[in-house]
Amino acid sequence: MSSTVRVTPVTVPSEGRMIRVDHLKKMFGGFAALDDISFEVKKGEIFGLLGPNGAGKSTTLRILSTLARPTAGTATIGGYDIVKQDNEVRKLVGIVSEKMIMYDRLTAKENLWFFGSLFDIPADTLNERIDELLELVQLTKWKTSLVGTFSTGMRQRMNVIRALLNMPQVLFLDEPTLGLDPQSSVEIREFVRKLNREREATIIVTTHTMVDADILCDRIGIIDHGKVVALDTSANLKRLVSGGNGTVLKLDVPNLTPALVESVRKVDNVRSISQDNSTHLKVIATGDDAFDNVVDAVRKNGGKIASMENVQPTLEDVFLHLTGHEVRDTADRKIPLERHGRFMGGHSRIR
Ligand SMILES: Nc1ncnc2c1ncn2[C@@H]1O[C@H](COP(=O)(O)OP(=O)(O)O)[C@@H](O)[C@H]1O
Ligand SMILES: [Mg+2]
Repeated sequence: MSSTVRVTPVTVPSEGRMIRVDHLKKMFGGFAALDDISFEVKKGEIFGLLGPNGAGKSTTLRILSTLARPTAGTATIGGYDIVKQDNEVRKLVGIVSEKMIMYDRLTAKENLWFFGSLFDIPADTLNERIDELLELVQLTKWKTSLVGTFSTGMRQRMNVIRALLNMPQVLFLDEPTLGLDPQSSVEIREFVRKLNREREATIIVTTHTMVDADILCDRIGIIDHGKVVALDTSANLKRLVSGGNGTVLKLDVPNLTPALVESVRKVDNVRSISQDNSTHLKVIATGDDAFDNVVDAVRKNGGKIASMENVQPTLEDVFLHLTGHEVRDTADRKIPLERHGRFMGGHSRIR
């Protein structure tokens, strides 16, 4: 245990740092949900935690928002220790998570009033704030409508402003676009940006959706099996794949067979390979002769190449490149909670 738990002085955080996560670890029985993660988030930054289901994203946010305690390691928010100064931390943070409750039989305003009264906010102020927040997410018209009649997108907007009632400087958003239609997702992303711009809120957003991470976040931490495997801007992360002499090749092979895929995998240049559908292959390869060698391998094994292109890497490719498996391998499957730890342990795919 690396935890000589440091007593953090109650001072202004050093040069623009808002969040500091230091060798954080969380055990559930013998299973490490968080395995020694460290990172820092600057004031006013939108920071993304990207990773598949079970990676440890929610656990990280729960610990940072004082809803759960770390097994080892420390973290500070605005200079305050999340364990020793949890009351101070709570004044600074708001969290939006999948599991938030809204009361269907109360109106929008009544819900917000209920949750707002849990904080130490004078009634007048709270009233004003509720109106302001409803306006911010364009729900003023539905102020006195029952939340039970709201669409998923409207409920999610309610969830977000609920976390803003105490005007937090730091906002944690756990999968804010999960289960939303594309239009609502766009609205939530716009709103997160607006909050960040207009209120200078520091934001950590978790997601297993590449688009969210890519277009929303200033920097992205890629998390897998409780470890941060890379952390940088989207552009720099993509350079991990394409930089040097890396390349992403997309091939359409109408007569693709598993044997053919295996023969391409064996090419020395090939770092990773994934199959989008029955005929499409995506190959991440390195070396000047990568293109030629991949084509040769396909042809030598009787494959016909209908088309082939050299594409820009996506964050999906970055994840594949770093971990050897795809985000969607786990993210698209609803695996019962109790099975996560045991079955997600290896890098093998679940079929
Ligand atoms: N209360 C808990 N008890 C046991 N295991 C848990 C608990 N909460 C989370 N886990 C496990 O910890 C791992 C990380 O979970 P979580 O942080 O929810 O991942 P993510 O949010 O990235 O999907 C998963 O394997 C999950 O099953
Ligand atoms: Mg989660």
